[in-house]
Amino acid sequence: MDKEKVVLEANNISRTYTGKVPVPALKQCSMSFKKGEFVSIIGKSGSGKSTLLRVLAGLDVPDTGEVMINGEKIAEMGDTKLAKFRRNHIGFIYQDYNLFNEYTAYENIILPIHLDGRKEEPEKIMGIMEELGIEHCRDKFPEEMSGGEQQRVSIARALAIEPAVIFADEPTGNLDAESAENVAELLREASDIHQQTIIMVTHDSQMADYADWIMHIKDGAILSK
Ligand SMILES: Nc1ncnc2c1ncn2[C@@H]1O[C@H](COP(=O)(O)OP(=O)(O)OP(=O)(O)O)[C@@H](O)[C@H]1O
Ligand SMILES: [Mg+2]
Repeated sequence: MDKEKVVLEANNISRTYTGKVPVPALKQCSMSFKKGEFVSIIGKSGSGKSTLLRVLAGLDVPDTGEVMINGEKIAEMGDTKLAKFRRNHIGFIYQDYNLFNEYTAYENIILPIHLDGRKEEPEKIMGIMEELGIEHCRDKFPEEMSGGEQQRVSIARALAIEPAVIFADEPTGNLDAESAENVAELLREASDIHQQTIIMVTHDSQMADYADWIMHIKDGAILSK
């Protein structure tokens, strides 16, 4: 496996939110991530971490600069191709989980697989749920689950499609220490064994230590590698 291969690259990306007062949330950021690399992004609340993750994943469009995945510019892909590409290659663990309230935990987890026109392997899905300790939530709706359980369903959904890149926005923000460690180990395994690239935002320095390297962001700028 070619570990040195760059899978994701951003050149001079900036993103300013317009409004009464414009907010420059990202300022001329450049970075690259290799296949199988596990990277933590650390920075204060409001420093631009979620904005960066959304731009890197093609969920938001930068005002300047470009993002390339597997050498292909996201901006040049077009909506349909990008949507399909995201479903196949990108897993996103949202800070606010982003689960569908009308679907059970299991249905939420398999949704991206079905959207891609494939059929899930139920044993594999249950295996992931067991690893995350949420097998008892199989038929529960989001409003019947705790915040931490919903967070783990959102993690299971990202893992289930076995994407090349997993973006995780504070994936353990609502978990106890033991569950958080469990999630960190799962992500570490995804990187080590399955060569998936993990880009994880966290406030927790213990979580960040699981990564190969830590990227610090302050006021929308990358401080150091
Ligand atoms: N949709 C939006 N419209 C206007 N301003 C926004 C929007 N989203 C974020 N911002 C602003 O952009 C800046 C960066 O926000 P972002 O959500 O990226 O920070 P963050 O580092 O993820 O913070 P947190 O740790 O609290 O999640 C903040 O000043 C925020 O107020
Ligand atoms: Mg955030």
